[in-house]
Amino acid sequence: MTPIRILITGATGFVGPYVQAACAREFPDAEIIKAGADITDRDAVFAMVQAARPDAVVHLAGIASVGAARTGRDHAFAVNLGGTLNLAYALLERRPRALLVNAGSSECYGGSFRAGVPLDEEACFAPLNTYAASKAAADLALGALAAEAGLRLVRMRSFNHTGPGQSAGFVIPAFAAQIAGIQAGRQEPVLKVGNLAAERDFLDVRDVAAAFASAIAKSETLAPGEVFNLASGTPRRIGDILDTLIAASGIAIEVQTDLALMRPVDIQRSSGDAGKARRLLGWAPSIPFATTLRDVLESFQNT
Ligand code: GDD
Repeated sequence: MTPIRILITGATGFVGPYVQAACAREFPDAEIIKAGADITDRDAVFAMVQAARPDAVVHLAGIASVGAARTGRDHAFAVNLGGTLNLAYALLERRPRALLVNAGSSECYGGSFRAGVPLDEEACFAPLNTYAASKAAADLALGALAAEAGLRLVRMRSFNHTGPGQSAGFVIPAFAAQIAGIQAGRQEPVLKVGNLAAERDFLDVRDVAAAFASAIAKSETLAPGEVFNLASGTPRRIGDILDTLIAASGIAIEVQTDLALMRPVDIQRSSGDAGKARRLLGWAPSIPFATTLRDVLESFQNT
């Protein structure tokens, strides 16, 4: 599919500018529209879809932080589930031929990670927190609309991704921001951390954005509601990432556990099997993890 008009919700968030750049590369003639409406306001979402007349929508708007969803449960469901439904209904009613590419999450698999193997798209949803439950509910609700109402849909389930621009509410920017603060003398040489034993499967946000653009390009070859895990397949221990960042800083830093950063429940190890994205989208991560880490650290050192 070569869309003429691409609407991006959450365009001003962390991932938005990267998806905008990836779509501009993949579809140089397309007009890219940054959605401005409050996604929880159904009338505003309908009006936005009507005005934008998109051929494809990349739905990024959402509460992305596990901690923020825990401290604001109603809001997380209102945005992640209610907002996604508002968008889907608006497309079905006002722009039924438009494609919806949904930004879902590997967090939905939750307890299924206890199997200890890289999970593919067939793994069961077993959310362990409000964030994961809200994303799982949206993913399932969209799947049902693709099956019974003809919603044109591709569901992306991204594993952890980072890069310049991600907020310090997430682990790698949290560490990088503190290291840069210590280097600049703004902070004592003490770095506060949460659970260092957890392992996560990290991608560079630029690789994730490229997969979203490929999903639009290949959408006509995909089954309705097709699901893709976006993962590297390599779990990395958070403590090892911290050690790498501290070593790169070249300074001595004391590490202190902050109980406020520990979670009531945390996935111990996540890793994903992105074989389907490789086969059907021709996608594979291309940016080395060391480059991603360096870029995030430098983005804080330069501010
Ligand atoms: N945020 C944060 N801050 N996490 C910490 C810290 C810290 O100071 N110290 C250790 N951690 C641990 C968390 O307990 C977790 O095990 C891991 O680092 C990663 O935490 P986050 O970066 O907050 O990401 P996440 O895994 O909870 O969720 C991210 O990935 C999902 C996909 O797997 C988010 O980007 C979600 O939006 C995304 O869907």
